[in-house]
Amino acid sequence: MHFTINGRGFDADVDIRTSILDLCREHLGLTGAKKGCDHGQCGACTMLINGRRVNSCLTLAVMHQDDEIVTIEGLGQVDDLHPLQQAFVRHDGYQCGYCTPGQICSAAGMLDEITRGWPSHVSDDLAKPSLDDDEIAERMSGNLCRCAAYPNIVDAIREVGSAAPAGRTADAKDAAMAEEIVA
Ligand code: FES
Ligand code: FES
Repeated sequence: MHFTINGRGFDADVDIRTSILDLCREHLGLTGAKKGCDHGQCGACTMLINGRRVNSCLTLAVMHQDDEIVTIEGLGQVDDLHPLQQAFVRHDGYQCGYCTPGQICSAAGMLDEITRGWPSHVSDDLAKPSLDDDEIAERMSGNLCRCAAYPNIVDAIREVGSAAPAGRTADAKDAAMAEEIVA
């Protein structure tokens, strides 16, 4: 099977029951994404697939051979940190760090969702969701932190989300998706 991960091509001969998480961790040496529960409950394994956040423990690698997969290693590196990684450091948004790769991938995906105008369950304005603490907590509720670094995680995400636009604005496709979510 062939995969594109972090902009790089990989070939792997794996069992068709292999999850993307296991593909990355066990076969490709990409150990940034963590296995917490292996049941879709904790978010430690979150990656971005075609820009959408996904629990990689719950999806089979074989289904994503034509997709763009981004792991925490693709968002930033030690000498070139992603703005969210920098903010997590600034705000002390972690303790043991086990949940952190998933938190940051999930935060990147959720900030993009807000940029696209997609509302959540707690959005006051369904046409233009804001980035208040309730919104961040709701949208990040799939990412658990056993060390309970939540207040600092929220601070880090709010800081990055409130800064300059992420480089894209909502288009007609986003508006249609937002309407579908509201409906
Ligand atoms: S390891 Fe995937 S959600 Fe917990
Ligand atoms: S920093 Fe330890 S689980 Fe989140």
